[in-house]
Amino acid sequence: MKHYYIKTFGCQMNVYDSHRIAAILESLGYTAASTLADADLVIFNTCHIREKAAEKVFSDLGRLNLVREERQAAGKDTVIGVVGCVVQAEDEEIARRAPFIDFATGPLTYHRLPEILQKVSRRRGIPLIDTEFPPESKFDFLPANKSMGGCSYLAIQEGCDNFCTYCIVPYTRGIETSRPIADVVAEAKTLVEGGSVEINLLGQNVNSYHGVDAAGKERNLAWLLRCLAEIKGLERIRYTTSYPADIDDELIACHHDLPQLMPYLHLPVQSGSDKILKAMNRRHTSGQYLEIIGKLKAARPDLQFSSDFIVGFPGETDQDFEATLNLIRQVGFAQAFSFKYSRRAGTPAALMPNQIEEKIKKQRLETLQELLFSYQLKFNKESVGKIMPVLFDIKGRHKGELIGRSPYMQNVHSSLAAEYLNRIVNIKITDANVNSLAGQKEGN
Ligand code: 5AD
Ligand code: SF4
Repeated sequence: MKHYYIKTFGCQMNVYDSHRIAAILESLGYTAASTLADADLVIFNTCHIREKAAEKVFSDLGRLNLVREERQAAGKDTVIGVVGCVVQAEDEEIARRAPFIDFATGPLTYHRLPEILQKVSRRRGIPLIDTEFPPESKFDFLPANKSMGGCSYLAIQEGCDNFCTYCIVPYTRGIETSRPIADVVAEAKTLVEGGSVEINLLGQNVNSYHGVDAAGKERNLAWLLRCLAEIKGLERIRYTTSYPADIDDELIACHHDLPQLMPYLHLPVQSGSDKILKAMNRRHTSGQYLEIIGKLKAARPDLQFSSDFIVGFPGETDQDFEATLNLIRQVGFAQAFSFKYSRRAGTPAALMPNQIEEKIKKQRLETLQELLFSYQLKFNKESVGKIMPVLFDIKGRHKGELIGRSPYMQNVHSSLAAEYLNRIVNIKITDANVNSLAGQKEGN
């Protein structure tokens, strides 16, 4: 029996891809190895969004090669594969930097793994690299998706046509494509039948979804959400990541009409300075962003927001940075992700003048995070005393502890019997810190 091990870097889309890759390997007779050193086939599913993420892949690959050598000394063969965005961005260069790998395939071609593995078994020693942007959709060739537990991811859209000037994604995930409505609904039903009560719809630019219906007519995300809301047993729906300028009135109306849509939306703004937003090629100003937030709040008053921020984009002055802090003060995000601008070869911003010194980026990130964390802590503290429906989907580190997610995506720790895993339980929140809440089952 052959064993596989997949290590996932990067975003939720990569987590979803790894889940589907695992299903391909299982259809070929592989079973999951409990540790990397026990695996006959190791796959790294990689991220190229920032330099740090990409460099980590190469240092981890170096360590993996040592494991491969140790296994070889013990008479065991190890096939090493790399998939994902680093492959698409680095192409043949990956085989120069990690010559010991057996194959590398981009995020759009992993459905070819059965053929790739066959070819690899015949040509050991020469890495096989597949970075084609394929004419076919990988989704038409994958084994049926299986539930991930109480909460599953479902990719509905992939790639991006926005070309924000800092971003590598259009070059790694390609131009935007949307899966047909019927395929998404069928996959969602399978996930619910498999025990999922929550589905998180994924896409690099998910709210520009435009999949075709049975009649071949293009439909938007609002239409898809209303179709999914009909599925019995699907209690929670989320979608991520959204582009502010593509939030339309029909989508806003869904937040009012559909109780299944969770009251938490990840809506990256990146910067509060209109000058920087323009240089980033974003199709919104800070004022328009605030207007969209206002409309969404009017439709669903308890809606909370999270965002992504980049500090130290080329040309960012103290005033531009101050504008970002001001925007945060106006929205008061419940959660946020913030990054120092990272120069990505091949993107327009990498060639812009006035690149910002590392020291300033670091200072700005610290200031920004301090402000963001203060709002996050404030929001979490306000949850104390409330009763929240929490979907528990992970076993905690302590015995008898489960970890779940509140409607607002807060991590909630609770002492609960294992039978509550993958279920929604009403929890009275008793404690809060910046990263999580604690509470007990109501009535206990
Ligand atoms: N440098 C820093 N952060 C980046 N992101 C995307 N590209 C870069 C980059 N070159 C951030 C954006 C995006 C999130 C997924 O990663 O904030 O929303
Ligand atoms: Fe990283 Fe973006 Fe690729 Fe996700 S899509 S793995 S965030 S580069």
